[in-house]
Amino acid sequence: LPPRGVLAAGGGAVLLLAGAVALAVLGVELRWVAAVAAVAVGVLGGAAVGWAKVLAPGEPDQEERHVRGPGLGRRVLITRVGVGAAVALGVALAVPAARRLGPAEDALRTTAWQAGSRVVTSTGELVRADEVALGDLLTVYPEGAVGAHDAQLVLVRELPERIEAMAGRAGWSPEGLLAYSKLCTHMGCPVGLYQQRTGELLCPCHQAVFDVLRGGEAVEGPARRPLPQLPLAITADGHLAATGELSGPVGTGFWGRP
Ligand code: FES
Repeated sequence: LPPRGVLAAGGGAVLLLAGAVALAVLGVELRWVAAVAAVAVGVLGGAAVGWAKVLAPGEPDQEERHVRGPGLGRRVLITRVGVGAAVALGVALAVPAARRLGPAEDALRTTAWQAGSRVVTSTGELVRADEVALGDLLTVYPEGAVGAHDAQLVLVRELPERIEAMAGRAGWSPEGLLAYSKLCTHMGCPVGLYQQRTGELLCPCHQAVFDVLRGGEAVEGPARRPLPQLPLAITADGHLAATGELSGPVGTGFWGRP
């Protein structure tokens, strides 16, 4: 049986490799995945070398210099096989993980909202623009995706003259109706407290504050990114619909975002 140190190093390497795969699946930047995988391979190689020394403690170090080809000493051979196996294992795990990075990241960047999605309540009823009163806060979804965690939005009405449209967002808030992702950009809690007097949305988890009147900007607390905004329009029959996708990825930070 290998000594405890070797076992611990081997176990740690396996954990690190599993961590690298998990990071890739979660959509973390490839360079971080590769860094963790590289450390894992290094640790695994070290464990292999340590084990080789245990298996063949009596063979001199200079053996490698004197022995060639099929005559390599047992210690040298085991060391090389161990390091080679560690590298191969690292590559075998890192490559599929990296391949999954793209789709995983895409899945986190997109939601069911797209141009033409009609806005419905949590019970699936279409939302009429004239039903939303000043100071109201409604949780809404795209038609056909009620309950989708990443697609839930807060819908509020504000006085149009109070709204400062961000660059490129003119016309996103018809008649003062504004829609933002309900997932806090700090750690994904649902934002739910709206102070109409200040135009601020509060997250109850760690007190992040977002400015509804200025593109959902994070103005206080631990969140760094604004709440993604959905461009809205009022349809000919008075209902609300999206004219495009959300302005950014929803929820907590990944792949280097704060
Ligand atoms: S999750 Fe919203 S402030 Fe932390």
